[in-house]
Amino acid sequence: MKHIKDVNLKGKRVLMRVDFNVPTDENGNITDDTRIRKSLPTMQKLINDGAKTILMSHLGRPKGEFDEKYSLKNVAKRISEVIGKEVLFTQSLLGEEVTNMVNNMKDGDVMLLENIRFYKGETDGDMEFAKELAKLGDAYVNNAFGTVHRNHASVALLAELFPNDHYFGFLMEREVENLSYLLGNPERPFTAIIGGSKISGKIDVLENLIPKVDNMIIGGGMRYTFTKALGGKIGNSIHEDDKLEVALDLVEKMKKHNVNLYLPIDCIVVDQFSNDANTQLVKGDEIPDNWEAVDCGPKSVELFRDVILKSKTILWNGPMGVFEMPNFAKGTFGVAKAVAEATQNGAFSVAGGGDSISALQQLDMMDKMSFVSTGGGAMLEFLSGIELPGLKHMK
Ligand code: 3PG
Repeated sequence: MKHIKDVNLKGKRVLMRVDFNVPTDENGNITDDTRIRKSLPTMQKLINDGAKTILMSHLGRPKGEFDEKYSLKNVAKRISEVIGKEVLFTQSLLGEEVTNMVNNMKDGDVMLLENIRFYKGETDGDMEFAKELAKLGDAYVNNAFGTVHRNHASVALLAELFPNDHYFGFLMEREVENLSYLLGNPERPFTAIIGGSKISGKIDVLENLIPKVDNMIIGGGMRYTFTKALGGKIGNSIHEDDKLEVALDLVEKMKKHNVNLYLPIDCIVVDQFSNDANTQLVKGDEIPDNWEAVDCGPKSVELFRDVILKSKTILWNGPMGVFEMPNFAKGTFGVAKAVAEATQNGAFSVAGGGDSISALQQLDMMDKMSFVSTGGGAMLEFLSGIELPGLKHMK
Protein backbone atom coordinates (compact mmCIF):
# COMPACT_ATOMS: atom_id res chain seq x y z
CA MET A 1 0.00 0.00 0.00
CA LYS A 2 1.50 3.31 -1.02
CA HIS A 3 1.29 6.15 1.41
CA ILE A 4 1.53 9.86 0.91
CA LYS A 5 4.08 10.18 3.70
CA ASP A 6 6.62 8.23 1.64
CA VAL A 7 6.65 10.67 -1.29
CA ASN A 8 7.17 14.32 -2.05
CA LEU A 9 4.67 15.53 -4.60
CA LYS A 10 6.19 18.95 -5.25
CA GLY A 11 4.85 20.58 -8.39
CA LYS A 12 2.46 17.67 -9.07
CA ARG A 13 -1.24 18.20 -9.64
CA VAL A 14 -2.68 15.94 -6.98
CA LEU A 15 -6.30 14.86 -7.27
CA MET A 16 -7.44 14.04 -3.77
CA ARG A 17 -10.81 12.42 -3.05
CA VAL A 18 -12.02 13.52 0.36
CA ASP A 19 -15.32 12.96 2.12
CA PHE A 20 -16.46 16.43 3.13
CA ASN A 21 -20.08 15.32 3.25
CA VAL A 22 -20.58 17.38 6.39
CA PRO A 23 -23.86 18.01 8.20
CA THR A 24 -25.46 21.39 7.44
CA ASP A 25 -28.45 23.33 8.81
CA GLU A 26 -31.41 24.51 6.71
CA ASN A 27 -29.39 27.55 5.58
CA GLY A 28 -26.49 25.44 4.38
CA ASN A 29 -24.24 26.37 7.30
CA ILE A 30 -21.87 23.62 8.37
CA THR A 31 -22.83 22.30 11.80
CA ASP A 32 -19.92 19.91 12.25
CA ASP A 33 -16.62 20.17 10.39
CA THR A 34 -14.95 17.07 11.89
CA ARG A 35 -14.49 15.47 8.48
CA ILE A 36 -12.70 18.55 7.18
CA ARG A 37 -10.44 18.87 10.20
CA LYS A 38 -9.58 15.17 10.07
CA SER A 39 -8.14 15.70 6.59
CA LEU A 40 -5.99 18.62 7.72
CA PRO A 41 -2.74 16.63 8.15
CA THR A 42 -2.99 15.29 4.60
CA MET A 43 -3.84 18.69 3.11
CA GLN A 44 -1.03 20.25 5.13
CA LYS A 45 1.47 17.66 3.92
CA LEU A 46 0.56 18.36 0.29
CA ILE A 47 0.76 22.11 0.82
CA ASN A 48 4.13 21.77 2.54
CA ASP A 49 5.39 19.55 -0.27
CA GLY A 50 4.44 22.27 -2.74
CA ALA A 51 1.88 20.11 -4.54
CA LYS A 52 -1.10 21.56 -6.38
CA THR A 53 -3.94 20.00 -4.44
CA ILE A 54 -7.26 19.49 -6.24
CA LEU A 55 -9.92 18.30 -3.81
CA MET A 56 -12.94 16.30 -4.91
CA SER A 57 -15.91 15.61 -2.62
CA HIS A 58 -19.61 15.00 -2.61
CA LEU A 59 -22.20 16.61 -0.37
CA GLY A 60 -25.56 14.92 0.10
CA ARG A 61 -27.22 12.99 -2.67
CA PRO A 62 -27.94 15.34 -5.59
CA LYS A 63 -29.41 13.67 -8.66
CA GLY A 64 -26.50 14.02 -11.10
CA GLU A 65 -27.08 17.71 -11.85
CA PHE A 66 -26.37 21.09 -10.28
CA ASP A 67 -28.45 21.78 -7.20
CA GLU A 68 -27.63 24.91 -5.19
CA LYS A 69 -28.64 23.15 -1.97
CA TYR A 70 -25.71 20.77 -2.35
CA SER A 71 -23.09 23.25 -3.50
CA LEU A 72 -19.70 22.95 -1.82
CA LYS A 73 -19.34 26.74 -1.67
CA ASN A 74 -19.53 26.85 2.14
CA VAL A 75 -17.26 23.83 2.40
CA ALA A 76 -14.61 25.71 0.38
CA LYS A 77 -14.81 28.58 2.87
CA ARG A 78 -14.50 26.24 5.83
CA ILE A 79 -11.51 24.40 4.32
CA SER A 80 -9.88 27.74 3.85
CA GLU A 81 -10.41 28.55 7.55
CA VAL A 82 -9.10 25.15 8.60
CA ILE A 83 -5.93 25.28 6.48
CA GLY A 84 -5.44 29.02 6.96
CA LYS A 85 -5.10 29.74 3.28
CA GLU A 86 -7.24 30.64 0.29
CA VAL A 87 -9.04 27.76 -1.45
CA LEU A 88 -9.81 28.13 -5.14
CA PHE A 89 -13.32 26.95 -5.91
CA THR A 90 -14.67 25.89 -9.30
CA GLN A 91 -18.28 26.23 -10.45
CA SER A 92 -18.10 22.93 -12.26
CA LEU A 93 -15.86 19.90 -12.55
CA LEU A 94 -14.93 19.57 -16.13
CA GLY A 95 -14.44 21.93 -19.05
CA GLU A 96 -12.14 24.66 -20.25
CA GLU A 97 -12.63 26.97 -17.27
CA VAL A 98 -11.60 24.30 -14.78
CA THR A 99 -8.66 23.19 -16.93
CA ASN A 100 -7.45 26.78 -17.13
CA MET A 101 -7.78 27.25 -13.40
CA VAL A 102 -5.81 24.07 -12.78
CA ASN A 103 -3.13 25.14 -15.28
CA ASN A 104 -2.75 28.45 -13.45
CA MET A 105 -2.30 26.83 -10.02
CA LYS A 106 0.95 27.53 -8.25
CA ASP A 107 2.88 25.08 -6.11
CA GLY A 108 1.16 24.81 -2.71
CA ASP A 109 -2.24 26.01 -4.01
CA VAL A 110 -5.42 24.23 -2.99
CA MET A 111 -8.54 23.97 -5.12
CA LEU A 112 -11.93 22.41 -4.43
CA LEU A 113 -14.01 21.15 -7.34
CA GLU A 114 -17.79 21.63 -7.08
CA ASN A 115 -19.84 18.68 -5.79
CA ILE A 116 -18.74 15.64 -7.76
CA ARG A 117 -22.22 14.14 -7.59
CA PHE A 118 -23.50 16.93 -9.83
CA TYR A 119 -22.25 14.55 -12.54
CA LYS A 120 -24.08 11.28 -13.05
CA GLY A 121 -20.82 9.67 -14.15
CA GLU A 122 -19.68 9.78 -10.54
CA THR A 123 -22.42 7.66 -8.99
CA ASP A 124 -22.67 5.49 -12.13
CA GLY A 125 -19.02 4.58 -11.65
CA ASP A 126 -18.44 5.62 -15.26
CA MET A 127 -14.89 5.02 -16.50
CA GLU A 128 -15.14 7.72 -19.19
CA PHE A 129 -16.01 10.27 -16.52
CA ALA A 130 -13.10 9.02 -14.39
CA LYS A 131 -10.76 9.45 -17.38
CA GLU A 132 -11.90 13.06 -17.80
CA LEU A 133 -11.20 13.72 -14.13
CA ALA A 134 -7.83 12.01 -14.38
CA LYS A 135 -6.74 14.55 -17.03
CA LEU A 136 -6.72 17.19 -14.29
CA GLY A 137 -4.04 15.46 -12.21
CA ASP A 138 -0.66 13.75 -12.15
CA ALA A 139 -1.32 11.72 -9.00
CA TYR A 140 -4.29 10.50 -6.96
CA VAL A 141 -4.76 10.45 -3.20
CA ASN A 142 -7.69 8.69 -1.57
CA ASN A 143 -8.52 10.11 1.83
CA ALA A 144 -12.30 9.58 1.64
CA PHE A 145 -12.81 6.78 4.11
CA GLY A 146 -16.47 7.72 4.66
CA THR A 147 -17.19 6.94 0.99
CA VAL A 148 -14.89 3.97 0.51
CA HIS A 149 -17.87 1.59 0.26
CA ARG A 150 -19.29 3.36 -2.80
CA ASN A 151 -18.55 2.09 -6.28
CA HIS A 152 -18.25 5.64 -7.60
CA ALA A 153 -15.84 6.99 -10.20
CA SER A 154 -13.69 9.23 -8.01
CA VAL A 155 -13.59 6.63 -5.23
CA ALA A 156 -13.16 3.33 -7.04
CA LEU A 157 -11.72 4.04 -10.49
CA LEU A 158 -9.06 6.70 -10.24
CA ALA A 159 -6.47 4.55 -8.49
CA GLU A 160 -6.46 2.31 -11.58
CA LEU A 161 -5.85 5.31 -13.81
CA PHE A 162 -2.77 6.32 -11.80
CA PRO A 163 -1.23 2.85 -11.42
CA ASN A 164 2.10 4.17 -10.13
CA ASP A 165 0.90 7.37 -8.51
CA HIS A 166 -1.95 6.58 -6.14
CA TYR A 167 -1.59 7.01 -2.41
CA PHE A 168 -3.46 6.71 0.84
CA GLY A 169 -3.89 9.91 2.83
CA PHE A 170 -3.22 9.92 6.59
CA LEU A 171 -6.90 9.66 7.52
CA MET A 172 -7.47 6.69 5.24
CA GLU A 173 -4.40 4.94 6.58
CA ARG A 174 -5.44 5.39 10.21
CA GLU A 175 -8.98 4.20 9.52
CA VAL A 176 -7.79 1.08 7.73
CA GLU A 177 -5.14 0.35 10.36
CA ASN A 178 -7.44 0.74 13.37
CA LEU A 179 -10.40 -1.11 11.90
CA SER A 180 -8.17 -3.88 10.58
CA TYR A 181 -6.82 -4.31 14.10
CA LEU A 182 -10.33 -5.14 15.30
CA LEU A 183 -10.70 -7.78 12.60
CA GLY A 184 -7.27 -9.25 13.23
CA ASN A 185 -6.31 -10.58 16.60
CA PRO A 186 -7.14 -7.81 19.09
CA GLU A 187 -6.45 -8.07 22.78
CA ARG A 188 -9.22 -9.86 24.67
CA PRO A 189 -11.78 -9.66 26.03
CA PHE A 190 -13.20 -7.94 22.94
CA THR A 191 -16.62 -6.34 23.36
CA ALA A 192 -18.77 -5.01 20.53
CA ILE A 193 -21.56 -2.60 21.43
CA ILE A 194 -23.98 -2.30 18.58
CA GLY A 195 -27.01 -0.02 18.71
CA GLY A 196 -29.27 1.96 16.42
CA SER A 197 -32.80 1.41 15.33
CA LYS A 198 -32.55 -1.46 12.84
CA ILE A 199 -30.89 -4.84 12.41
CA SER A 200 -31.08 -4.52 8.64
CA GLY A 201 -27.85 -2.91 7.53
CA LYS A 202 -26.02 -4.46 10.47
CA ILE A 203 -26.54 -8.17 9.79
CA ASP A 204 -23.29 -8.61 7.86
CA VAL A 205 -21.25 -6.80 10.44
CA LEU A 206 -22.79 -8.81 13.28
CA GLU A 207 -22.11 -12.06 11.39
CA ASN A 208 -18.51 -11.11 10.79
CA LEU A 209 -17.90 -9.97 14.36
CA ILE A 210 -19.44 -12.97 16.13
CA PRO A 211 -16.43 -15.29 15.63
CA LYS A 212 -14.10 -12.50 16.81
CA VAL A 213 -15.71 -11.03 19.93
CA ASP A 214 -16.22 -12.29 23.48
CA ASN A 215 -19.14 -10.04 24.35
CA MET A 216 -21.87 -8.54 22.23
CA ILE A 217 -23.96 -5.77 23.74
CA ILE A 218 -27.00 -5.01 21.61
CA GLY A 219 -29.01 -1.91 22.44
CA GLY A 220 -31.13 0.74 20.76
CA GLY A 221 -34.20 -0.03 18.68
CA MET A 222 -32.67 -3.10 17.07
CA ARG A 223 -32.66 -5.00 20.35
CA TYR A 224 -36.49 -5.24 20.32
CA THR A 225 -36.32 -7.44 17.26
CA PHE A 226 -34.07 -9.74 19.28
CA THR A 227 -36.33 -9.51 22.34
CA LYS A 228 -39.44 -10.31 20.30
CA ALA A 229 -37.69 -13.17 18.54
CA LEU A 230 -36.70 -14.58 21.92
CA GLY A 231 -40.32 -14.50 23.11
CA GLY A 232 -40.27 -11.28 25.16
CA LYS A 233 -43.02 -8.65 25.27
CA ILE A 234 -42.06 -5.45 23.45
CA GLY A 235 -45.31 -3.41 23.51
CA ASN A 236 -45.22 -0.79 20.76
CA SER A 237 -41.43 -0.71 20.52
CA ILE A 238 -39.73 -0.39 17.16
CA HIS A 239 -38.82 -3.75 15.59
CA GLU A 240 -38.56 -5.56 12.27
CA ASP A 241 -40.97 -8.48 11.96
CA ASP A 242 -39.21 -9.70 8.82
CA LYS A 243 -35.92 -10.01 10.72
CA LEU A 244 -37.06 -12.20 13.60
CA GLU A 245 -35.49 -15.31 12.08
CA VAL A 246 -32.29 -13.44 11.32
CA ALA A 247 -32.15 -12.37 14.97
CA LEU A 248 -32.63 -15.96 16.16
CA ASP A 249 -30.00 -17.16 13.74
CA LEU A 250 -27.55 -14.55 15.09
CA VAL A 251 -28.33 -15.63 18.67
CA GLU A 252 -27.59 -19.25 17.69
CA LYS A 253 -24.30 -18.24 16.09
CA MET A 254 -23.33 -16.34 19.24
CA LYS A 255 -24.02 -19.47 21.30
CA LYS A 256 -21.94 -21.56 18.93
CA HIS A 257 -19.01 -19.18 19.24
CA ASN A 258 -19.38 -18.76 23.01
CA VAL A 259 -20.16 -15.08 22.68
CA ASN A 260 -21.94 -13.56 25.68
CA LEU A 261 -24.97 -11.66 24.41
CA TYR A 262 -26.12 -8.76 26.56
CA LEU A 263 -29.50 -7.19 25.88
CA PRO A 264 -30.83 -4.41 28.13
CA ILE A 265 -32.38 -5.94 31.27
CA ASP A 266 -34.48 -2.87 32.00
CA CYS A 267 -35.77 -0.01 29.92
CA ILE A 268 -37.62 3.28 29.98
CA VAL A 269 -40.96 3.14 28.22
CA VAL A 270 -43.20 6.03 27.15
CA ASP A 271 -46.90 6.39 26.36
CA GLN A 272 -46.13 8.69 23.42
CA PHE A 273 -43.02 9.47 21.40
CA SER A 274 -42.04 12.73 23.00
CA ASN A 275 -39.44 13.97 25.47
CA ASP A 276 -42.20 14.95 27.91
CA ALA A 277 -44.20 11.74 27.68
CA ASN A 278 -45.22 9.76 30.77
CA THR A 279 -42.58 7.14 31.53
CA GLN A 280 -42.20 3.87 33.39
CA LEU A 281 -39.13 1.81 34.17
CA VAL A 282 -39.83 -1.84 33.28
CA LYS A 283 -37.99 -5.11 32.69
CA GLY A 284 -36.33 -5.34 29.29
CA ASP A 285 -38.60 -8.10 28.02
CA GLU A 286 -41.81 -7.08 29.77
CA ILE A 287 -42.88 -3.93 28.01
CA PRO A 288 -46.58 -3.28 28.58
CA ASP A 289 -49.02 -3.11 25.66
CA ASN A 290 -49.28 0.37 24.13
CA TRP A 291 -45.99 1.52 25.65
CA GLU A 292 -42.83 2.06 23.67
CA ALA A 293 -39.24 1.64 24.87
CA VAL A 294 -36.96 4.63 24.24
CA ASP A 295 -33.88 3.99 26.36
CA CYS A 296 -32.24 1.29 28.40
CA GLY A 297 -32.55 1.61 32.16
CA PRO A 298 -30.01 2.12 34.98
CA LYS A 299 -29.51 -1.61 35.68
CA SER A 300 -28.62 -2.19 32.03
CA VAL A 301 -26.14 0.68 32.08
CA GLU A 302 -24.57 -0.82 35.19
CA LEU A 303 -24.38 -4.26 33.58
CA PHE A 304 -22.92 -2.88 30.33
CA ARG A 305 -20.42 -0.74 32.25
CA ASP A 306 -19.21 -3.80 34.11
CA VAL A 307 -18.67 -5.73 30.86
CA ILE A 308 -17.04 -2.73 29.18
CA LEU A 309 -14.64 -2.10 32.06
CA LYS A 310 -13.45 -5.71 31.91
CA SER A 311 -12.72 -5.45 28.18
CA LYS A 312 -9.39 -4.81 26.54
CA THR A 313 -10.82 -4.01 23.11
CA ILE A 314 -14.11 -2.21 22.54
CA LEU A 315 -16.05 -1.34 19.41
CA TRP A 316 -19.04 0.99 19.73
CA ASN A 317 -21.43 1.78 16.90
CA GLY A 318 -24.93 3.12 17.43
CA PRO A 319 -26.95 4.68 20.25
CA MET A 320 -28.66 2.76 23.07
CA GLY A 321 -31.84 4.83 22.91
CA VAL A 322 -33.51 7.94 21.52
CA PHE A 323 -30.70 10.13 22.83
CA GLU A 324 -31.78 13.12 20.69
CA MET A 325 -34.46 13.54 23.35
CA PRO A 326 -32.59 14.67 26.49
CA ASN A 327 -34.74 12.59 28.84
CA PHE A 328 -33.77 9.41 27.02
CA ALA A 329 -30.05 9.91 26.59
CA LYS A 330 -28.87 8.20 29.78
CA GLY A 331 -28.30 4.78 28.20
CA THR A 332 -26.24 6.11 25.30
CA PHE A 333 -24.32 8.56 27.46
CA GLY A 334 -23.75 5.86 30.10
CA VAL A 335 -22.19 3.57 27.51
CA ALA A 336 -20.07 6.41 26.10
CA LYS A 337 -18.78 7.24 29.58
CA ALA A 338 -18.01 3.59 30.33
CA VAL A 339 -16.05 3.23 27.09
CA ALA A 340 -14.13 6.41 27.93
CA GLU A 341 -13.36 5.06 31.41
CA ALA A 342 -12.19 1.71 30.03
CA THR A 343 -10.00 3.55 27.52
CA GLN A 344 -8.45 5.59 30.29
CA ASN A 345 -7.72 2.31 32.09
CA GLY A 346 -5.82 1.07 29.04
CA ALA A 347 -8.40 -0.56 26.76
CA PHE A 348 -8.32 0.11 23.02
CA SER A 349 -11.61 1.62 21.85
CA VAL A 350 -13.05 2.45 18.47
CA ALA A 351 -16.29 4.40 18.06
CA GLY A 352 -18.09 5.27 14.87
CA GLY A 353 -21.36 6.07 13.20
CA GLY A 354 -22.99 9.51 13.07
CA ASP A 355 -25.08 9.04 16.23
CA SER A 356 -22.24 7.73 18.38
CA ILE A 357 -20.08 10.65 17.23
CA SER A 358 -22.85 13.11 17.99
CA ALA A 359 -23.26 11.64 21.50
CA LEU A 360 -19.50 11.88 22.07
CA GLN A 361 -19.51 15.48 20.90
CA GLN A 362 -22.36 16.36 23.26
CA LEU A 363 -20.32 14.86 26.09
CA ASP A 364 -17.12 16.51 24.86
CA MET A 365 -15.56 13.05 24.80
CA MET A 366 -14.31 12.69 21.23
CA ASP A 367 -10.73 12.53 22.46
CA LYS A 368 -11.56 9.97 25.13
CA MET A 369 -11.78 7.15 22.58
CA SER A 370 -8.65 5.52 21.16
CA PHE A 371 -10.03 6.10 17.69
CA VAL A 372 -13.18 7.66 16.24
CA SER A 373 -13.99 6.55 12.71
CA THR A 374 -15.28 9.13 10.21
CA GLY A 375 -17.19 6.39 8.42
CA GLY A 376 -20.79 5.47 9.13
CA GLY A 377 -21.84 2.98 6.45
CA ALA A 378 -18.21 2.66 5.40
CA MET A 379 -17.11 1.57 8.86
CA LEU A 380 -19.85 -1.05 9.06
CA GLU A 381 -19.06 -2.40 5.60
CA PHE A 382 -15.35 -2.50 6.39
CA LEU A 383 -16.10 -4.45 9.57
CA SER A 384 -18.30 -6.80 7.56
CA GLY A 385 -15.07 -8.05 6.05
CA ILE A 386 -15.96 -7.46 2.41
CA GLU A 387 -13.55 -5.89 -0.07
CA LEU A 388 -14.58 -2.28 -0.49
CA PRO A 389 -14.62 -0.62 -3.93
CA GLY A 390 -12.46 2.28 -2.80
CA LEU A 391 -9.73 -0.04 -1.54
CA LYS A 392 -9.70 -2.53 -4.38
CA HIS A 393 -7.11 -0.79 -6.54
CA MET A 394 -5.25 0.97 -3.74
CA LYS A 395 -2.58 -1.69 -3.63
C1 3PG B 1 -21.53 9.20 4.53
O1 3PG B 1 -21.80 10.29 5.06
O2 3PG B 1 -21.87 8.12 5.04
C2 3PG B 1 -20.70 9.21 3.30
O3 3PG B 1 -20.33 10.49 2.94
C3 3PG B 1 -21.36 8.49 2.16
O4 3PG B 1 -22.51 9.17 1.74
P1 3PG B 1 -23.63 8.39 0.91
O5 3PG B 1 -24.29 7.44 1.87
O6 3PG B 1 -24.55 9.45 0.39
O7 3PG B 1 -22.92 7.64 -0.18
